[in-house]
Amino acid sequence: MLCALECVAIILLLSVSHTTLQASGNEIKTDVFLSPKFELGPGSVADKFYYGIDFPTGHIAIKSFNAEVVDDKGKSVPLHETYLHHWVVVGYYKRKGENALERFGESGLLQSDSTLIRNSGMCDHGLVQYFGLGSETRRTATDVPDPYGIEAGNPADVPAGHEARWMLNVHAIDTRGAVDKLGCTECRCDLYNVTADGNGEAMPVDYIGGLKCCHDGVRCRVKRGFRGERRSLYLRYTVTYMDWDASIVPVKIYILDVTDIWRKADESTGLKATHRCLIEYDVEPCPFGAENDGCIHTKSLTISLPTGGDVIYGVGHQHAGGFGSTLFREGGNVICSSVPTYGTGHEPGNEAGYIVGMSTCYPSPGSVKISAGETLTLVSNYSSSQRHTGVMGLFYILIADSSANTGAVQHSPAQVRMNTMASYLGWPFELFGVGLVVALVLIYSGRNGYEEI
Ligand SMILES: *[C@@H]1O[C@H](CO)[C@@H](O)[C@H](O)[C@H]1NC(C)=O
Ligand SMILES: *[C@@H]1O[C@H](CO)[C@@H](O)[C@H](O)[C@H]1NC(C)=O
Repeated sequence: MLCALECVAIILLLSVSHTTLQASGNEIKTDVFLSPKFELGPGSVADKFYYGIDFPTGHIAIKSFNAEVVDDKGKSVPLHETYLHHWVVVGYYKRKGENALERFGESGLLQSDSTLIRNSGMCDHGLVQYFGLGSETRRTATDVPDPYGIEAGNPADVPAGHEARWMLNVHAIDTRGAVDKLGCTECRCDLYNVTADGNGEAMPVDYIGGLKCCHDGVRCRVKRGFRGERRSLYLRYTVTYMDWDASIVPVKIYILDVTDIWRKADESTGLKATHRCLIEYDVEPCPFGAENDGCIHTKSLTISLPTGGDVIYGVGHQHAGGFGSTLFREGGNVICSSVPTYGTGHEPGNEAGYIVGMSTCYPSPGSVKISAGETLTLVSNYSSSQRHTGVMGLFYILIADSSANTGAVQHSPAQVRMNTMASYLGWPFELFGVGLVVALVLIYSGRNGYEEI
């Protein structure tokens, strides 16, 4: 390593200046955790649910949540070996001293008498998480800009006799030696040789691919004679957070799903709105000869949010083949457009052919507002030059109450770009920020010009 002493000195210096940057003196903390171990061999699938995972405790404002798959030496594992289909993190309240096992049912509700802590919507079942991404996780910014924060652990919200906990679901597919890596990651049923879904129920007749065909323990077809060791893997996740204080403005998390089949609330009959989210959909290939017309598959949803506010963050979630998704206000103005970054190399964070990041939106606070009941349109585009199964078109938005006092601290564009990089490079960079990157570049260029870190 080139800069042993200089780096240590700079790190110390910067970490001091970093904490004093917080106006309130309330420092941003970073905790890095490992999930329980899961094991994968060539072709195999892990779809694990871990309850009561390690997580920062107390009444906190979560400022970012990043994750990646690592091996037992802590080394990042590339997507072309272990495809990270998704990870999601959900909060819940569990009765203290209760030994009944927590369990996630089909509907996403916990059995036993635990209570789910859902995000603000919109789906009736599923997509209840606070945090969750897939292959794009290494290069997708998740930072919540100042003065906002995602509130967790408020003792006033915990039902009597309960404690707050977190559940992690990790779904990973080992595609080493796979006959069709894309097919395995899209959970194409013909590659998995399964006749029943994860609950033992028969597959619908016209079901050709998606989560029902790649449940925990099944195997995707691997090339004859391919050998690869079974290995131990972990989801390493990094949470940055602050102690909650009065200067922090809480944000609500909404997850819109382009497959949502919904019915408006009916005030005359008192019926509530219903949202049936299918989560996944298929993209049919465009007709032969139509390739030159772009072969874009567009799926859209119009939906209304019951409560409005200031949009402070937005990001789409798509699978390989995605061309981007956009959320529009009523009248057609863009709230946020999120486009994928495809990798171009071999190394973790840049795997060719995979979505390794999604662009994010950080409108300056107050500049993008949604009114309560406003009709929004979500558009999700995919390439249809070949068939895709089990793709997704989700959109996460963070909304703050417009009436909240937002103080003066704002997230500058430079900081946003840096954070995208931070989630790619890992937590030490995130912690010490752009200053460290600049300092390293200076040290390096002061030596013998450009060198790769
Ligand atoms: C598919 O599953 C059946 C029944 O479980 C099994 O007998 C058969 O060998 C499997 N085929 C392949 C190619 O793995
Ligand atoms: C989606 O594709 C259509 C063409 O089919 C294009 O007009 C539109 O701009 C695209 N939207 C996004 C968000 O990429």
